[in-house]
Amino acid sequence: MPLDFTKPTPPSDDKRWKLVQATMRRWGNHHDALIETLHTVQESFGYLDNDALTYVAAALRVPLSRAYGVATFYHFFRLKPAGKHTCVVCTGTACYIKGADQILESIRQAYDVKPGETTADGQISVLTARCLGACGLAAAVVYDGEVAGKQDAASTLERLGKWVEQ
Ligand code: FES
Repeated sequence: MPLDFTKPTPPSDDKRWKLVQATMRRWGNHHDALIETLHTVQESFGYLDNDALTYVAAALRVPLSRAYGVATFYHFFRLKPAGKHTCVVCTGTACYIKGADQILESIRQAYDVKPGETTADGQISVLTARCLGACGLAAAVVYDGEVAGKQDAASTLERLGKWVEQ
């Protein structure tokens, strides 16, 4: 059977996949990058779903069963989103300069959640990512998978407020 050199494509055009691809590239797309890559998926998306596991397994050429094995063995991996909504604040250099830390601080004050945590009511999970590849839009925040640019504490709290009102 001829070898298949086609590269699997990410499950969506969400920019966060670029972070995942960067991790895999750093490891030469070697199968040893599995845990590290799953970490990047979880850091960026908050959890690992079937599409993510399928994509990572194909890209690193490991059996899907192995990806599931790793994802379920380590308790720090989640297979479901923790909160109903996810808010990913980019803390890369450009976004940091434009106030990413103020955004995180305002979320902490308003909702008593730090990065990696979910509000007590299960509504919002807050995550951080290192450069979403949208530096021209700094500060960038991803609300439920949708990248928003030029964010500050006020615009972020307004957006989160809409989720909580629903
Ligand atoms: S540093 Fe935030 S998008 Fe690049």
